[in-house]
Amino acid sequence: MSLLEVKELVKHYAGKRGIFAGHQEKVRAVDGVSFSLARGETLGLVGESGCGKSTLGRLVVRLEEPTAGKIFFTGEEISGWTGRKLRELRSRFQIIFQDSSSSLNSRRTAGAIIEEPLANFGMRKGERRERVRELLTLVGLEPEHAAHYPHEFSGGQRQRINIARALTLQPELIVCDEPVSSLDVSIRAQILNLLRELKKRMGLSYLFISHDLAAVNYLVDRVAVMYLGKIVEMLPAEGLVSQARHPYTLALLRAVPEPDPRQRTGQKPVMRGEPPDPVSPPAGCRFHPRCPEARDVCRQNEPVLREVEEGQLVACHLS
Ligand SMILES: Nc1ncnc2c1ncn2[C@@H]1O[C@H](COP(=O)(O)OP(=O)(O)OP(=O)(O)O)[C@@H](O)[C@H]1O
Ligand code: SF4
Ligand SMILES: [Mg+2]
Repeated sequence: MSLLEVKELVKHYAGKRGIFAGHQEKVRAVDGVSFSLARGETLGLVGESGCGKSTLGRLVVRLEEPTAGKIFFTGEEISGWTGRKLRELRSRFQIIFQDSSSSLNSRRTAGAIIEEPLANFGMRKGERRERVRELLTLVGLEPEHAAHYPHEFSGGQRQRINIARALTLQPELIVCDEPVSSLDVSIRAQILNLLRELKKRMGLSYLFISHDLAAVNYLVDRVAVMYLGKIVEMLPAEGLVSQARHPYTLALLRAVPEPDPRQRTGQKPVMRGEPPDPVSPPAGCRFHPRCPEARDVCRQNEPVLREVEEGQLVACHLS
């Protein structure tokens, strides 16, 4: 049984109001996404800015309500859960965001930040303090750091505090939303290593969101490539470079200048031209206006995501 399974997940946001009465644009942030994640597995989610990665991550941990579709966690459908049931479920999955500073309350010590979820779950004070010390050590900080405030830490250390807090309630799944993008290049590899170690040690599963194909390939078991609200290719990470077929995945791969994540600098534009507006995706294949292989059928018919090799799914008429 999968740890997580999503079926035809959709999230449309209300966009601008049109000039006609009653007309409201729809931002199709996530537009029919299905995948599953096994226990202990890391699935990488990549794609250009605005393709819907963070929205999908927030839907999975139930921080957003889906417009349509279903989410199953350990086989149970959780999409409709509310109230106490949802609060209890929240301890089983967590999310780590890109910006390590803004996700920490500057007026609270690292210890208080990490401890907070434990207090909410009724653990006694002495036990909580002990658990905080353990967690700080686990993420490579010192127990004494519990008394320090966020501004006293470096960016990498702050992200370690976020990771400790995410681990407080021993979750089964962590959504990592670009957890190293805002860090110095020299620190990125350290945080990725930490995430990899913690996964092994604690049997965690990750949905790992990134712009950076190199970082993803370093950490994940499978890669899902997203374009304008849809997954266009999904394949095992070890086959990414040699077996990828979708023209968009190939373009992303060509845009990776340096395979070693420690050598990378910043986020580069991945290809010429911008993705179209998710308010009005192109007809047929959404990628056709930018695809070097596009032909008539691509402008008329939308390709479905289908298995082309064992474990590899592609949505392209040519595959
Ligand atoms: N609350 C919201 N209201 C309206 N539109 C939204 C909202 N959140 C996201 N969007 C839109 O949905 C689309 C997907 O956004 P999302 O943040 O999920 O993309 P992303 O792939 O995470 O991008 P990035 O790589 O820049 O973080 C974008 O067009 C975005 O502007
Ligand atoms: S379906 Fe056509 S336009 Fe879309 S990716 Fe394949 S070749 Fe390109
Ligand atoms: Mg995002």
